[in-house]
Amino acid sequence: MTRKSSTGAETSKTGVPREIAAAPRLLEWYDRHRRALPWRAPPGESADPYAVWLSEIMLQQTTVAAVKAYYVTFLALWPDVAALAAAPVDEIMKRWAGLGYYSRARNLHACAQTVVAGHGGRFPGTEAALRALPGIGPYTAAAIAAIAFDQRAVVIDGNVDRVIVRRHGIEQPIALAKPEIRRLADAATPAGRPGDYAQAMMDLGATICTPRKPACVICPLAEGCVARISGRQEVLPVKGVKAARPLRLGSVFYIRRGTEVLVRTRPPKGLLGGMTEFPGSAWDAVGDPEGKAAPLAAIHRRLPAPVEHGFTHFELRLTVFVADMPRKTPAPDGCRWVPEEGLDGEALPGLMRKVAAAVNLFG
Ligand code: ADE
Repeated sequence: MTRKSSTGAETSKTGVPREIAAAPRLLEWYDRHRRALPWRAPPGESADPYAVWLSEIMLQQTTVAAVKAYYVTFLALWPDVAALAAAPVDEIMKRWAGLGYYSRARNLHACAQTVVAGHGGRFPGTEAALRALPGIGPYTAAAIAAIAFDQRAVVIDGNVDRVIVRRHGIEQPIALAKPEIRRLADAATPAGRPGDYAQAMMDLGATICTPRKPACVICPLAEGCVARISGRQEVLPVKGVKAARPLRLGSVFYIRRGTEVLVRTRPPKGLLGGMTEFPGSAWDAVGDPEGKAAPLAAIHRRLPAPVEHGFTHFELRLTVFVADMPRKTPAPDGCRWVPEEGLDGEALPGLMRKVAAAVNLFG
């Protein structure tokens, strides 16, 4: 049973604010069921700020499953912030290839250098100081402060949004309910074990309070969950109306010379900045269906299906052309030949990996 106290806060029978009462239950559950993730400190030990920062940057916009192998490789290559700061940025970009949102990799390097040059190689321990570092926004600053420095910080990611919306039966789309979610998350965050609490909420969202078919029967927060009580756990959060992403079209040329393939490096700034790509046309509303943007004159075969890729602000559909050139063909300006076998060692983004895979399949 809950009722409103004189201050308006929801309280349980015992008079303890309901959300504060929920924290111990969640932490107890976390102690038993926490996911073993490579960046997490063993229970009772404090986490290495470098490991927490690296994992949190990698986890932005991505899943735990996608990140694990990258994280392990980065930590093996660059075990501390000084090692990462001293690494060539191109090497970091190469190792980041496939994780997406490549400005994160550039900022990673810039941040490591700032921590070394401006903070004596130690991450600062407050949310405000963390936010001042390159690539660290409000979510990441709160997560690092809580997980690595045991500071009480309100940590809200997509999982936490969903848990709170269901728990409080919020009927607005998440994008409209942000201030309310923050207020409720703040009220629920305990002063003790804030890092474990934050990660417990994330684990709950990832393993129990899942987007589809949440496992309410085993949820430590089922008691007092408005969505569960009203049977709306599969309806909430309600979807907002999303603006349709525009479609952009273009061509891409997979041009071989024996065992080599033609690539170029994208300009350092902007989308996929500094990454390797197969040459192609601009991406726009009309595209290049005839393959007029070919960097070399040759017989270009068009693959039967385009390659499609979703970016944050648009969908891309690329027509793929394949050609084989004589052995000594020079690379056109701005391009270079690389061994096809060595493509894995290039900073090749997911989109271009799809192109290479399509060529393997059809070309
Ligand atoms: N997603 C983002 N940060 C995370 C963390 N520390 N644990 C689990 N999932 C996460």
